[in-house]
Amino acid sequence: MTGRIIGISGPTVTVDLTGLRLYDMVRVGEAGLTGEVVRLERERAVVQVYEDTRGLAVGEPARGLGVPLTVRLGPGLLAGMFDGLQRPLEPLREATGPFIRGGHELPPLDPAAVWPFTALRRAGDEVKAGDILGHVTEGPFRHPIAASRGGRLARLAQGEITLGEPVGILEDGGELAAIEEWPVRRPRPCRRKFSPSTPLVTGQRIVDFLFPLARGGTAILPGGFGTGKTILEQAIAKFAAADIVVYVGCGERGNEMAELLEEFVTLTDPWSGKPLMARTIVVVNTSNMPVAAREASIYTAVTMAEYYRDMGLHVLLLADSLSRWAEALREISASLEEMPGEEGYPTYLASRLAAFMERSGEVETASGEVGSLTMVLSVSPPGGDFTEPVTQACLRTAGAFLMLDTSLAHRRHFPAINWFQSYSLYGESAARRFAETVSPRWEELRSRCRRLLQREEALREVAEIVGVEGLQDADRLLMAAAERVRREFLAQNAYTDDAFSPPERTAERIEGILAFHHRAAERLSAGELLDEVLKG
Ligand SMILES: Nc1ncnc2c1ncn2[C@@H]1O[C@H](COP(=O)(O)OP(=O)(O)OP(=O)(O)O)[C@@H](O)[C@H]1O
Ligand SMILES: [Mg+2]
Repeated sequence: MTGRIIGISGPTVTVDLTGLRLYDMVRVGEAGLTGEVVRLERERAVVQVYEDTRGLAVGEPARGLGVPLTVRLGPGLLAGMFDGLQRPLEPLREATGPFIRGGHELPPLDPAAVWPFTALRRAGDEVKAGDILGHVTEGPFRHPIAASRGGRLARLAQGEITLGEPVGILEDGGELAAIEEWPVRRPRPCRRKFSPSTPLVTGQRIVDFLFPLARGGTAILPGGFGTGKTILEQAIAKFAAADIVVYVGCGERGNEMAELLEEFVTLTDPWSGKPLMARTIVVVNTSNMPVAAREASIYTAVTMAEYYRDMGLHVLLLADSLSRWAEALREISASLEEMPGEEGYPTYLASRLAAFMERSGEVETASGEVGSLTMVLSVSPPGGDFTEPVTQACLRTAGAFLMLDTSLAHRRHFPAINWFQSYSLYGESAARRFAETVSPRWEELRSRCRRLLQREEALREVAEIVGVEGLQDADRLLMAAAERVRREFLAQNAYTDDAFSPPERTAERIEGILAFHHRAAERLSAGELLDEVLKG
């Protein structure tokens, strides 16, 4: 299928190709830039181009590839860094220099790397499409290699394979590939989904204790400029109790991503003691990279995440920030001259977001194992206005809402999660589980802590009128205890050893502060002076 470019509008290009399907990949221009069909008309098609369209001219060639945008799935993704189209960044940089030029085709997985392979079938066996032929080992993980089609095996690799060669040959001559290709916009299937109930430990006290995440759940972190979204996303990426972490830098600053990577290579996973990168995949589409690839990047990332989920692993996908993704969608929609909805976003913004977030979940995989895909997504509402469309659309679907508060950030209280306006639907079930596994008093401590913060808020209003001096001693004591909860418990400095707090330490710390308050209140009612009591 070849034709010509007949129109160019920002990131979209019109071509005179017929016979294409929606979301088919197309290469446009002399440079062979990659794009995807987003609209079909009788005699032509509109292509969303994932690379810089400057320099393209009308009349240049266009070629339909007959397949949708896919990612390649197999061993070797871990510790990898990819752009929004799953092109490996390091080799790409070596090939083209620091400024990525369009039209480059580099395999995301090294075809020459040698992998240990344990065969489960042998020559002569009859296999069906989807049958497991064997496993490839990558660190502690076993990647099942499934037959892409059925037939009788003439040959199957033993001991070692390379991804560039078939792992098996059928008697009819058909080749069985070692890696799988999967269209990014199609969720990978599972047998069934469970409702999320197992907590996903993040190592952030306020999250684990008050607004916990659950395996297979979704959380959004909306926050205005400089409220700590990126630092919180990165802290969770470092310390969360997940087998695999997929981190998407979506439209954010390039230097932040560079710093993140520099730091990640020096760190270890606190749960396994192995290098942190060994469990991490990074997808980067920073603000200086083409906008349309940003739209694709979250799908590329979630498909890789689903692949590991399907191996029965617990996967955490983080994206910073979803607002930049939505802006890319808006830009593409505008160039297609679609009817704009609220604030210029396309009318399908909310349904797209919901469909993306639907790909999270704790599932029974096709092979009967339990895996999960959890999402933690930051949102940057302009001006910190949470009524804007992206925050609102996310709110409707997310199970946890960690609202980052500008006034807390101004006071340098980090993470600036507002403890009155945030919520987690997983709160109760997670607290029950922590009570079984960490401290039998977890639920009691949690409600005491909340009560303390609520009473502090009420007292603060009173104190504004009568002054702190006008409060009773017991109330002043309560305010002192609440302040300790805020400073020593809810706040957590990401730049010190305190950055990671395992649940046991979280429970100990809140218990210590609440016990102090309890003892002090008893001494106060026994007649001791407040000043004495506060000294401890
Ligand atoms: N947990 C933390 N501990 C200590 N400092 C923090 C913490 N979180 C945020 N900060 C401080 O706040 C600053 C801004 O944080 P960050 O870059 O994460 O904000 P952001 O919401 O991502 O900003 P932007 O809207 O520009 O993307 C950091 O540079 C750091 O100084
Ligand atoms: Mg940021």
